[in-house]
Formats: sequence, C-alpha cells, structure tokens
Amino acid sequence: MLDPAGPSAQAIALVWWWMLGVAVLVVVGVMVAGWLAMRRGHGSEANATDDIATSHGWRWMVGGGILLPSAAIAALLVFGTPAGFHQLPLHLTGAGGPAPLRVDVEARQWVWSLRYPESGVQLDNELRLPVGRPVDIHVGSRDVIHSFWVPRLGGKIDAIPGRTNVVRLQADQAGTFRGQCAEFCGLNHAHMVMTVIAMPANEFEAWLAAQPVTASTEGRP
Ligand code: CUA
Repeated sequence: MLDPAGPSAQAIALVWWWMLGVAVLVVVGVMVAGWLAMRRGHGSEANATDDIATSHGWRWMVGGGILLPSAAIAALLVFGTPAGFHQLPLHLTGAGGPAPLRVDVEARQWVWSLRYPESGVQLDNELRLPVGRPVDIHVGSRDVIHSFWVPRLGGKIDAIPGRTNVVRLQADQAGTFRGQCAEFCGLNHAHMVMTVIAMPANEFEAWLAAQPVTASTEGRP
C-alpha cells in the first residue's frame, strides 16, 4: 500500500502519510500537555480560583473539543475527497488518456473469476492489465460479501451479491502485484488471493488475442 504503482494507490498513500504525520504531531502535543499539567500541579499556581479553573476548562473544551476536530475533519475532507475520486470511474480522472478497459469480476467462496467482456476471455485468480491505461473493474459476488483489493494499485471495493460496484485502477509500471480479499468471507478468506500482472500495452493486446475465448454460460451481465 505504501509502495504505490499507479495514480489511485498514490492518492491513498499520500493521504495516509499526511494522516500519520498529523497523528504524530497530536500524540506529541498531548504528551507535552500532560507533562506540563503534571509539572504545574506541584507548583505554586496549583491553587487557582474556581473562576479561573472554569474559564480555562471552557477554553480547552471549545478549542480542543470543537475547533481542533472541525479543522482536522475539514482538512481530511479536502485531501480525502480528491483521493476518493481517483478510485472511481469518473471522466475527470481519466480525461485525455486512453479509453478505460473494462473487466468484470465475480467473487465467490473462494475464487476470483474475471472476464474481459470485449473479448470474452475468462480467468480465475489472475488479472492482467495494460500499463498506463485505466481499468474499470466491475465487481459483484455470487455468495457472500467479499472485498476486492490490490493494495499497490488502488482502494478496496466491496463485492456484494445482487449489485455491481466499480473501481478504477491503473498500473503505471509493469510488474506482478498481489490482490487480496479484504472482507472476511469464510474459512479460506485469507487464501482468496489473486495475481495481478501489469504488462506493456502491446504485450497485453498480444496476450489477450492469444487466449481461448470461453463462452459465457453463467449468465453474467
Ligand atoms: Cu472473499 Cu474474504
């Protein structure tokens, strides 16, 4: 996840590093405040009047309980919303580039079945993609809820029986990545793994053309 190989995953990693950085600052801040409070407790200022104590208390509640979390959540929205857009099949994230490739994925206990609807090619537990081209993954499930996740390429998307969710992935470098079911779905959940192979576009086209076409007999959309 922290070694992104494409724009969707890069957006997530960036948000993660910012969250880590701010969280470290908050932990350090709380530690320092706690340490100061303990030191002051032993000093001469410990005997503040009730009025002063009350007004200090309000200041901390309004500042630390309302203003600080509001600012933190607003900042998270400003960074997080565009990162979320990167995971979706929106025109604004793929403008000017090659048209996205569509792959239909059906999850079941405990297999990923993949199909390239334009060519009719089907695969199990293996996803091949062309480098540098967005790929819209249409994810559904035959039995229980699973979650489609290729950490180095993008975010998770739930595979829910009866509906189709779409996530946009893109690999900017050739290589082999691991895909993993990310929602507990039964005994073999941890072994519900998929190999994702990103290939240069011309190699991908040649590979796709050389695959036997399996007639779809499973009534997929
Ligand atoms: Cu499928 Cu967990």
